[in-house]
Amino acid sequence: MSKLYYPNKELAKKANIKSLEQYYALVDEAKNDYEGYWKNFADKKIDWLSPYSKVLDESNKPFYKWFCEGKLNVSNQCIDRHLEKRANQVAILFEGDRGDVQKITYKELSLNVNRFANLLKNKFDIKKGDRVVLYMPMVPEAAYAMLACTRIGAIHSVVFGGFSAEALKDRIEDAGAKLVITADGAYRKGKPYLLKPVVDDATKNGCDSLEAVLVIQRNNEKIEWNKKDHKYNELIKYESDQCPYEIMDSEDPLFLLYTSGSTGKPKGVQHSTAGYILWAQMTMEWTFDFQDGDVFWCTADIGWITGHTYIVYGPLSCGGTTVMFEGVPTYPDSGRAWKMVEEHQITQFYTAPTAIRVLHKLGEDEPSKYNISSLKVLGTVGEPIDPHAWEWYYKVVGGEKCPIVDTWWQTETGGHMITPLPFATPIKPACATLPLPGIMAEVIEKDGTPTPIKEKGYLCITKPWPSMIRTIWGDDERFKKSYFGDCEKNGESVYFSGDGAMIDEDGYITITGRVDDVINVSGHRLGTAELEAAIAEDEHVAEVAVIGTPHSVKGESIFIYVVLKDNANIKDIFIHVNKILARDIGNIAKADDIVKVEGLPKTRSGKIMRRILRTLAKKEEITQDISTLEDPSVVEKIKKALESS
Ligand code: WT7
Repeated sequence: MSKLYYPNKELAKKANIKSLEQYYALVDEAKNDYEGYWKNFADKKIDWLSPYSKVLDESNKPFYKWFCEGKLNVSNQCIDRHLEKRANQVAILFEGDRGDVQKITYKELSLNVNRFANLLKNKFDIKKGDRVVLYMPMVPEAAYAMLACTRIGAIHSVVFGGFSAEALKDRIEDAGAKLVITADGAYRKGKPYLLKPVVDDATKNGCDSLEAVLVIQRNNEKIEWNKKDHKYNELIKYESDQCPYEIMDSEDPLFLLYTSGSTGKPKGVQHSTAGYILWAQMTMEWTFDFQDGDVFWCTADIGWITGHTYIVYGPLSCGGTTVMFEGVPTYPDSGRAWKMVEEHQITQFYTAPTAIRVLHKLGEDEPSKYNISSLKVLGTVGEPIDPHAWEWYYKVVGGEKCPIVDTWWQTETGGHMITPLPFATPIKPACATLPLPGIMAEVIEKDGTPTPIKEKGYLCITKPWPSMIRTIWGDDERFKKSYFGDCEKNGESVYFSGDGAMIDEDGYITITGRVDDVINVSGHRLGTAELEAAIAEDEHVAEVAVIGTPHSVKGESIFIYVVLKDNANIKDIFIHVNKILARDIGNIAKADDIVKVEGLPKTRSGKIMRRILRTLAKKEEITQDISTLEDPSVVEKIKKALESS
C-alpha cells in the first residue's frame, strides 16, 4: 500500500468540505435521493430567472435533460449577480507574456462583455443559437467574447490557437459558424506571433456559413485585411455598455468544444446551460476549496475544456478572481510561474503533469527562491501523473502543506468527476482517489459486473450527471455509439469514458489511461484514426498504424509504423509526414518516431492490433495470444525492423 497523506486539520476547519465524514454524508444523500440531492444544489447555486419543473428527464435515454424548463443566463451567473457586492473586486487578473498586467474588475468585465455582446448583435446580426468560432490567444478579450456569446445565447466553439488552418476550417464548417473571432497575433517567449494568417488560410475556400471575421488587435505586426474582416478595437468604441441578457433554457446549448475520438473526425462536444454552470461552480468550491479572496490560477489554454471550466466559468460563477496568463511558465526562465504566484498572492495553482515535469527538470530548486506561501491547494489534470513528478510538486512546490488534487475528468464531463477533496480526502500519490459526491463513477466489466480489486476495468459513469455532454453536434447516432455503445449495467447502457482504471480496497480509483485508440500527448487528446488518415496522404505510404509510446516529458509521444509502396527513403518520409501532421492538425501532432515495416499485425477481419505494436515499441515481450493474427510471422519481422531502426 502506498503512503497516505492526511489533510491539514487546522485548514480543514475553514474548508468548504471539512472531513471525510462530511464527504460520505453527501455521497449517501445522493445515493438515497438522487434528484433531491441535485435539486438542493441547483436551488442554492443558480440564479434562476424562472424555475424548472423537473430535475431530471430520462424519457429519451441517453439524451438526458436536467432542470427542465428552467430559465437562466450564464453571463448573469458569472457577472451581473456579483455586481452589487463585487463591482470593484478583480475578476480577471491578466498577465501578458512580457509581464504587462491588467486587473479587470467585475464592473469593467461587465462593461466589456456588454459592449462585446452589443457588437455581436448589432454589427454581425448574431442571434440566439448561432455558432461563433473563437481562434484566440490568451488575452482578456477571449473571455469577453465567450461571455458575450453566452449573454446573447450564441453558441461558442473555441478552437485552440495551436491547431492548423485545416483543423480550424473543419471546425468552422462542422459547426456552421457565422462569425470567427480572432486576434492579429499575440506574444510568446518575448516575441510576437501571428494568428490571423491562419484564419485567412482556413477560410480562403469553403466555410460557406461564414459571414465575417472579427479581429482583435493585440500586437502591431502587419497583417492582411480582407473583405470579411472587421477591426474590433475601432468598432467596440461605438457600442453601448448596456445589453440585456437573453433568457436561456436550462438545456439550450452553451458551447461546443471539439475533441478527438477513436474513430473519424473530431467531434463537437455539446454542453448545456444549467447543468454545466452548476457543476463548474460546485467543483470550484469543492475541489479547490475556492473561497472569497482566493486568487485562482489555472494554466490551461482557453482552447481546452480545462480553460473553459476553470479559467472562465468556474471562477467567475463563484465571484472569484481568476488569473489568465498569455505566456509560458518557462519564459524568461523556469521561475516565471513561482514569481507570478508570489506577486499575485495566488492561492490555488492548477496545471498539467507535463508542465510539472518540465518545471521540475528545468528548475528543481526554483520554487524555493520565491515566497510562494500563499498557495493553499495544488492541482493536476490531463494525464496520469507519475510518482516522481508528484513528489516534487508536493514537497518543493507545496512545501508539504498543500494537498494535491489529482483531478480526473474529460471534455465530455464538463467538470471534475474523480478527485480528492483537499481538506477531507487522505491522498495517495498519483491517484485520483474518490468520485465527487453525486458522481456514480465505477470500474466495471462490459456487462456491468464490478471489476475485482486492483484489476484493470472500464471506467464508467453509471448515472447521468448535470454537466454531461448532451450530444455530438449534428450527430446523435455517433454520440450514442461513442459513449453508450460499449458498457452496460443492469441491462442498461451506461457512459463509458474510454479510460481504464483500477479500484483498491479503500474504494480509491487509479486511472490507468485510455483503452481505446486515443493517445494523450502532453495532455492533448489525439485520435489514432485522425493521425493515420493524415499520414496516409503521403504518396509512398501503403499502410500506417499509429500508437502512443511512453515519453518522459510529454507522457506519451506519437510513434508511427508504416508499410511503404516503394523504396522511398524513410528519413524523407518522416520529414514529409510530420509536415502533413502539422498542416492537417497542428504542431502538437508531430511524431517522434517512425519505423518502416513489411506488414502490420492484423486480425483475420483486418483490424490492426495496436496493443501488439505498443508492446513491441516498448521493447517488451509479447504475452498476448498472437495466433489470432492473419499472419503471426509479422511480429518477428517487426521486432527486427525495430532493432535496426
Ligand atoms: C482524458 C480526457 C479534463 C481536462 C483535460 C483533458 C485523461 C484527464 C486525468 C487524470 C489520468 C487523466 C484521461 C481522459 N485524464 N485527467 N487526473 N489522471 N488521466 O481533457 O482532452 O477531454 O482528455 O485525459 O485519459 O479520458 P480531454
